[in-house]
Amino acid sequence: MPDILQVHDKYFVPYLSQEEIIEKVKALAYQINHDYKGKRPLFISILNGSFIFSADLFKFITVEAEICFIKLASYKGTRSSGQIITAIGLDTDLTGRDIIIVEDIIDTGKTINQFLPQVFNQQPASLKIAVLLHKPEATVFPVKIDYTCFTIPDKFVVGYGLDYNGLGRNLAQLYQLKED
Ligand code: IMP
Ligand code: MG
Repeated sequence: MPDILQVHDKYFVPYLSQEEIIEKVKALAYQINHDYKGKRPLFISILNGSFIFSADLFKFITVEAEICFIKLASYKGTRSSGQIITAIGLDTDLTGRDIIIVEDIIDTGKTINQFLPQVFNQQPASLKIAVLLHKPEATVFPVKIDYTCFTIPDKFVVGYGLDYNGLGRNLAQLYQLKED
């Protein structure tokens, strides 16, 4: 494990080890197994960032469960509607389902806030949000997060699925932007 890692033009230092991450992910899965006993939740994994987190989490789920993967694409709408988010690949009927949204990180909270109405519109039986990372200092659009692995400071991180301009997703652990 390098002490300093370069991704594009920036330098990163080791932050959370693979062992620390897996331990938290496992604990979160146990909590979900407990909370969803006798139910059949549908996990909605938001790509790209959450692909590793979702896979690791899902392996520890022991209740009957389904998973689907979607991508959120944002484009500029009219001036009044502002930015619009569309969910690509959301082809499962969510009506009456127990939904667990799986996200890599809640930063400003904007992305998830714009997506949630599309889920509520389909009238699920319940809706919870599970995140690997939450940066409360950066969150300006309030989100009710039900399951969090790590609450972290407002510093950029890469690894374990998260990228910096496309790179770094394959790093097995999390790295944090190095202070100058
Ligand atoms: P939000 O809409 O501001 O909450 O943005 C969430 C999205 O921004 C995440 O799904 C990530 O793709 C990206 N993001 C926010 N903070 C970081 C970070 O520290 N590292 C990598 N990606 C991040
Ligand atoms: Mg993301």
